[in-house]
Amino acid sequence: MTRVPRNLARAATAGAMVVRLNRDSYDRIAPEWDRARREFVHREAEYLDALLDGAPAGSLVLDAGCGTGRPMADALVKRGFRVVGVDQSPAMLARARARLPHERWVEGALETLELDEEFAAVICWDALFHVERRHHEAVLARLAGMLAPGGRIMLTAGGSDDSPPFTDTMFGEQFFYDSWPPDETLAIMHRTGLEPVIFEYMNRPDGARDRGRIAIVARRPAPDAPPAP
Ligand SMILES: C[S@@+](CC[C@H](N)C(=O)[O-])C[C@H]1O[C@@H](n2cnc3c(N)ncnc32)[C@H](O)[C@@H]1O
Repeated sequence: MTRVPRNLARAATAGAMVVRLNRDSYDRIAPEWDRARREFVHREAEYLDALLDGAPAGSLVLDAGCGTGRPMADALVKRGFRVVGVDQSPAMLARARARLPHERWVEGALETLELDEEFAAVICWDALFHVERRHHEAVLARLAGMLAPGGRIMLTAGGSDDSPPFTDTMFGEQFFYDSWPPDETLAIMHRTGLEPVIFEYMNRPDGARDRGRIAIVARRPAPDAPPAP
């Protein structure tokens, strides 16, 4: 784990360098990632169940930051859902496309994503924290706007109350991370019209390398729906 040096932080704020760093690094680690990311971990399968609660059979799900399409998109297709997967890394996306050739795979960035479809559910799993925090509200607002009324979104965000942006290594490559503190992420959810159904730590910050991670399942209320308990 490395604090972002002042000059890198300045460049990262400009945005382009963050996108290029993460895209190129994921391109390089796609084979290793694919080998490692096979199964659900922690309570991911339960979060997916909560996401799909009430989603019509066979409906369309957006997987934003889909990686290689496993385990999330793969599980969705096995359950009869259709998937649009978006990722900025061509190499990660190529593996998703090869794995699930009947789904729609789109190369694109969360920061600028525009799609015509309406989705019964949206996943943004372990991807938002690769985006500069100044974009998080706009990204979530855009994803919320793609949800059908009553639809749900499932995402992770960083779990630290005081972490500046940082870079860390995975499979020998550098990645950029940034996240608002959990309280601010929760406030963003409310401001974007999303009602959290689950908002909990997957892992808490350990005071060292691990900045912690929050798992969130939230819904876009249908008109006249009672508030989430
Ligand atoms: C940690 S991996 C998670 C992949 C998948 N969601 C999963 O659960 O296995 C993060 C993924 O998000 C993608 N990603 C990171 N930043 C992105 C951005 N700004 N726009 C689109 N995709 C991005 C990466 O290319 C990578 O495939």
